Amino acid sequence: MYIRSFADGNGDGVGDLRGLKDRLEHLAWLGVDIVWITPFYPSPMFDFGYDVADYTAVDPLFGTLDEFDAVVDEATRLGLRVVIDIVPNHTSIEHAWFRAARSSKTDPKRSYYIWRDAPADGSHPNNWVGYFGGPAWTYDEASGQYYLHLFLPEQPDLNWRNPSVIEEFDRILRFWLERGVSGFRIDVAQALVKDEQLRSNPELSPVDFDADRHTQWAAFAHDHDVTQDDTLAIFKRWRAIVEEYDGILIGETYVLEPDVLAGMLRGDGLHVAFWFKTMHMEWNAETIAQTLAAPLDSGSDEIGWVQASHDEPRPPTRFGGGTRGRRRSLGLSTLLLGLPGLPFLYQGEELAIEDGIVPPEMKADPVGGDEVDAGRDGCRTPMPWSAEPGKGFTTAPTPWLPSSHDPDDTVAVQRGDPSSPLHRTRQLIELRRQLDHDAPVEWLDPGTGLVAFRRGDFEFFLNAGDDELTLHTECGALLYSSITPDRVGTISSSRVRLEPDEAVVLR
Ligand code: GLC
Repeated sequence: MYIRSFADGNGDGVGDLRGLKDRLEHLAWLGVDIVWITPFYPSPMFDFGYDVADYTAVDPLFGTLDEFDAVVDEATRLGLRVVIDIVPNHTSIEHAWFRAARSSKTDPKRSYYIWRDAPADGSHPNNWVGYFGGPAWTYDEASGQYYLHLFLPEQPDLNWRNPSVIEEFDRILRFWLERGVSGFRIDVAQALVKDEQLRSNPELSPVDFDADRHTQWAAFAHDHDVTQDDTLAIFKRWRAIVEEYDGILIGETYVLEPDVLAGMLRGDGLHVAFWFKTMHMEWNAETIAQTLAAPLDSGSDEIGWVQASHDEPRPPTRFGGGTRGRRRSLGLSTLLLGLPGLPFLYQGEELAIEDGIVPPEMKADPVGGDEVDAGRDGCRTPMPWSAEPGKGFTTAPTPWLPSSHDPDDTVAVQRGDPSSPLHRTRQLIELRRQLDHDAPVEWLDPGTGLVAFRRGDFEFFLNAGDDELTLHTECGALLYSSITPDRVGTISSSRVRLEPDEAVVLR
């Protein structure tokens, strides 16, 4: 859950820990096992909390440490586990380490960050660009050197080649594990350790700083800034720590090459690595099957399956909106929940809601410039819990981002309708519990337009084509359809009809 937008417990228009605690019961009803909470640490909020000023405290906007403990207690009572976001690639400029570091070149904390002299020719220390666009270097006038940042200038990158940084994070992880968290989602896990000599990346095409951030990033082969082998040693160290507490390490591994992903899981690396290619694939049976098979084929079965997050347009929007977008998203979930690994739902995905509409004057995300829809606000609008003003999210007259969702797309309405996306998702989660998790995936070739695999006694099918299709099967029962509860039952004719974008599970 994205804490700012999940539930507001104190009526200031921003989601918080108290609001979350009161809504945990709903998550337990839905059937989730683990709640991942996005950053709630003190922060100047340049990147809405992904710029951390203190790793072992709670920002007053989100509550207090006692309220955090209350969330963990309530989660435990409900049988849920809590995973928190750890943001180790960078701190905020307001973190005490960075304040000290920038105070002078000789400060002991200087080497917590990555500093370089300005080249004599007036260029930057190397050609790296940031994920949010623009050069990855900012000149610090006061101390007369550049510092590195792969995100905003307000998010200076830590120097993971410094053993003191490693020790600081050992302490931070233990602080939260001692408070009862069950592990961490590691922000930008692929980027921690940088090339020792900070070599420039090979240029693939001349970079255009007026182009969008993705185009700027794609102008380089990222040989030296991200996915450096030495990062694995950090994961191994952390894995040993979290395992003392029976915890889990989940990497936000933004790499779209399955082999590179497999490298982060290898040995005793991450327990689970996100596979994001599902957010960047075209909608056709062949591509979907390839995208899902690729990370499994490269030898990893600890994949974190996602189709939505607080960083990308919501799937129903991405898949064309309306009934079609909604059905595609639920169809894809059906496959993702059938695969080995750990499937994630991003708040509101279970309602199959589209992106919220944020008018330009209310735009909040620092990313994406002035263009409407270019940033990440659309997927971050508040959770629509019920139809009243404030959508049951807040009692404040104005939430931090507006909620434009249809009154029919609330949790309250969907809970009362067995064919709603919410109930479809809940039933799917229930079904997942019956899977034999050791059973391998066998890909089936059921013909044009269909994606299909078998796992143990279960068969999963998605009609990714534009027309209704009939599949032939030896299965005796239809256990689940992504569009209606009414189809569940015995299969009498060895044939199952699938509407476009419908997915089914057979046994
Ligand atoms: C991750 C987060 C994103 C954040 C970025 C920088 O990608 O999911 O929201 O802006 O890291 O911390």
